[in-house]
Amino acid sequence: MSVAKKNHADYSDFNEFTSRDDTFDMLLMSYESLCEGQRDWVCNLSNAASLLWHAYKSLNVEVNWAGFYIVRDGKPKELLLGPFQGKVACQSIPFGQGVCGAAAETQMTQVVSDVGKFSGHIACDGDTKSEIVVPIISSDGKTTGVIDLDCGDFNGFGESDKIYLEKLAELITKTCNFN
Ligand code: SME
Repeated sequence: MSVAKKNHADYSDFNEFTSRDDTFDMLLMSYESLCEGQRDWVCNLSNAASLLWHAYKSLNVEVNWAGFYIVRDGKPKELLLGPFQGKVACQSIPFGQGVCGAAAETQMTQVVSDVGKFSGHIACDGDTKSEIVVPIISSDGKTTGVIDLDCGDFNGFGESDKIYLEKLAELITKTCNFN
């Protein structure tokens, strides 16, 4: 699925959608459209971070960080900071540490309604109250990175976010070359 917009910046405008489902359908279609003819992960995930930021803002979800940590060559058990929107964040996270490391290690989405109750949460921003981290898994079953979203409110994310962000993770695997 793809969608055509007049200018690139128009893809960031989600204001005509009021439901999470409609907003996320548009986000996924926009992401696919923006990836046409482009497989570089820095390029595609930079636009994905922007789409996520603007989509959640349009739904009045207090997202304060939206982006990616990626496994880089030579360090298979470490996540390195990738494209994002929001304040500066920690540069590297070992597998198994924090919410991101847990998602990377277990290959299971982590939905954390209160980060204060997640043992080992890494507080890049003291304002963060809840978080969702979705693993990005290669076609041969390896963790290539994670999608990470932080929220300034408790219970910022739920089942529908998990479903759509997991679809985005699958699309990322299909559309990006990571080396
Ligand atoms: N809170 C994350 C660290 C990354 S920042 O939220 C951007 C964690 O516990 O893994």
